[in-house]
Amino acid sequence: MKSIPITTVLQTERLQLRSISLSDIDLVWSISRIPGFNDGMAWEPPETKEELVTIAEKNLINWKDGKAFSFTIEIAETNLPMGRITIRRVDKDKPDIWNIGFWIHPDHWRLGYATEAAQAVINFGFNDLAASKITTAHAIWNTPSKKVIEKLGFQFMGINPCGFMKEGKSVPEYEYVIEIKKPGKTL
Ligand SMILES: CC(C)(COP(=O)(O)OP(=O)(O)OC[C@H]1O[C@@H](n2cnc3c(N)ncnc32)[C@H](O)[C@@H]1OP(=O)(O)O)[C@@H](O)C(=O)NCCC(=O)NCCS
Repeated sequence: MKSIPITTVLQTERLQLRSISLSDIDLVWSISRIPGFNDGMAWEPPETKEELVTIAEKNLINWKDGKAFSFTIEIAETNLPMGRITIRRVDKDKPDIWNIGFWIHPDHWRLGYATEAAQAVINFGFNDLAASKITTAHAIWNTPSKKVIEKLGFQFMGINPCGFMKEGKSVPEYEYVIEIKKPGKTL
């Protein structure tokens, strides 16, 4: 895989997706203070902003190492940051399989932004990361996430009873995959 410059910006009709920066910490902190916001995601609300600095630095190292690419989602017209999406390699021995996860600030829900950002990152995965498969998952109760995933064309794979851990308990997830469309045979 070729190296991906940290200056990479994915443009969509209404959004721009850029690599994360320490200036996004206040946004991440603010959403993690909303009761229940993190319930459908594997990461726990941090106790201090400093924890988010450490995580952001790790994210930037992962980008440099080609292991995971975290983008801050901005509204293009105003440059307002309002979400996050990550595509990460699932296993170093399977470099063509990647996984995505995302969130959007509640002030901007139900405007199609998660779907628009995720479509751009799926294209990035197939075109720039040479992915052949991209996986994703949602907690089985997470209807908004399910809708986004289905709209993107992911295929349902099955249930994973131990999807991720939350407060010491496993949260079951539904798992999905999307594969690069290979040229079909003509009849
Ligand atoms: C899941 C999440 C990212 C969706 O973001 P979003 O930008 O509102 O999603 P979209 O606007 O692209 O919605 C796509 C579809 O889902 C539907 N949808 C979104 N929120 C919904 C809700 N609360 N209830 C029912 N449907 C919903 C939309 O209506 C749309 O379908 P439509 O085009 O048929 O109307 C957002 O709810 C979120 O950040 N949740 C908290 C974090 C999280 O759980 N992330 C996912 C982890 S797997």
